[in-house]
Amino acid sequence: MSRSSDYRTSAISAADGPVAVTGASGYIGSWIVRDLLEQGYQVRACVRDVNNSGKVDHLLAMHKQAQAGSLELYEADLYVKGSYDAAFKQCSAVIHAGAAVGYNSESPQQVYDGCFTEVGHVLESAMNSGALKRFVFTSSFAAVGHPRPKGYVFTEKDWCGDNEDGHRGGWSDDNIAVNRDIAYAKAKARTEKMIYAAAAASGRFDAIAILPLHVVGPLLCANHDQGWSWQNCIKFMLRGKPYIKSKGGRMLWNMVDVRDTARAHRLAAESTLAANESRYILSAMDRSGEMFTHQLQAKLGQLFPEIANIGGEEMLSGQPVQPTHDGPRSYALLAKQELGLQSYRLEDTLLATHESDVQLGLL
Ligand SMILES: NC(=O)c1ccc[n+]([C@@H]2O[C@H](COP(=O)([O-])OP(=O)(O)OC[C@H]3O[C@@H](n4cnc5c(N)ncnc54)[C@H](OP(=O)(O)O)[C@@H]3O)[C@@H](O)[C@H]2O)c1
Repeated sequence: MSRSSDYRTSAISAADGPVAVTGASGYIGSWIVRDLLEQGYQVRACVRDVNNSGKVDHLLAMHKQAQAGSLELYEADLYVKGSYDAAFKQCSAVIHAGAAVGYNSESPQQVYDGCFTEVGHVLESAMNSGALKRFVFTSSFAAVGHPRPKGYVFTEKDWCGDNEDGHRGGWSDDNIAVNRDIAYAKAKARTEKMIYAAAAASGRFDAIAILPLHVVGPLLCANHDQGWSWQNCIKFMLRGKPYIKSKGGRMLWNMVDVRDTARAHRLAAESTLAANESRYILSAMDRSGEMFTHQLQAKLGQLFPEIANIGGEEMLSGQPVQPTHDGPRSYALLAKQELGLQSYRLEDTLLATHESDVQLGLL
């Protein structure tokens, strides 16, 4: 990561030219587009189908309402080599937030292999941009977490793949083909390293990764209510229903607002402190943003007293019936320190999530 003293930062500003966003129709991607527009950027929003109104109307509405910046839609597919060439031409930065996240009918091996195919295609088109300075990759906290004793606090120095023998070898490569979570985590970690290596070899741009944990906050269209997502779990809780997740949903929610997640991507592109291989965990800033499921249920109950029954885990006499999984613990301190990221209060995030669910007719 060390640079010679004459190195000029690769940090960008709106004056440096267009910025492209993959996965622009998605939950995180849409907020990245909105944030960039608000900051006056020329945004190239890459979507799979420019005519799919359920997925692009909210982007077109942003374009109409924008006080600053400009937005153009580009059609591209992560599985098609060269698909992003036109969209990325002369872009100063590419923010790669798109992914076939792997909760459809993909096998764990397809999740793993698919991530390399997708990242490979995007990286190749980005390197053909002619003006690329920053490549910001939406990786995941999954690329950080690995078996550690209860209470261990993860930082950006941790990598999924450390301590593979923890959990009796369950995290070894042998399990990529059979365990979706391990396939996803290892693919994110290894594609991150692949991007850093490509950036270092080229010497022309820096690559930075954003590592979100539980992303919650307002949805910009009904399609953001994907069945596997954390925002969808919140909707189920607000409907008084349990939700289906591993460990019966009994876990530590370590939350970050989707608007903060989006802003962190732009700040990473603009930061003069960030450099190739910089990675930023996005989670709670402190313990007030971490809650066990039953604590989150109680918080939602306080915020929405009109909802008679808040769902989540099974409770008896105010206590969870079964023990809760204590983890993952981590704090977004580096993002605060180096990117200057300020976070929404958790209460504001939950209120805004509920409000968007109501407005979109999801509740
Ligand atoms: N949400 C979280 O809590 C969380 C946490 C950690 C990391 N992440 C990472 O953040 C990224 C974005 O997640 P998200 O929550 O925003 O998911 P999302 O709402 O499902 O967005 C995924 C985006 O990728 C696009 N996409 C999927 N397959 C594609 C293909 N073959 N070609 C082109 N585009 C394709 C989708 O387009 P369509 O609209 O056409 O489907 C959508 O725009 C992912 O890499 C995910 O792993 C998310």
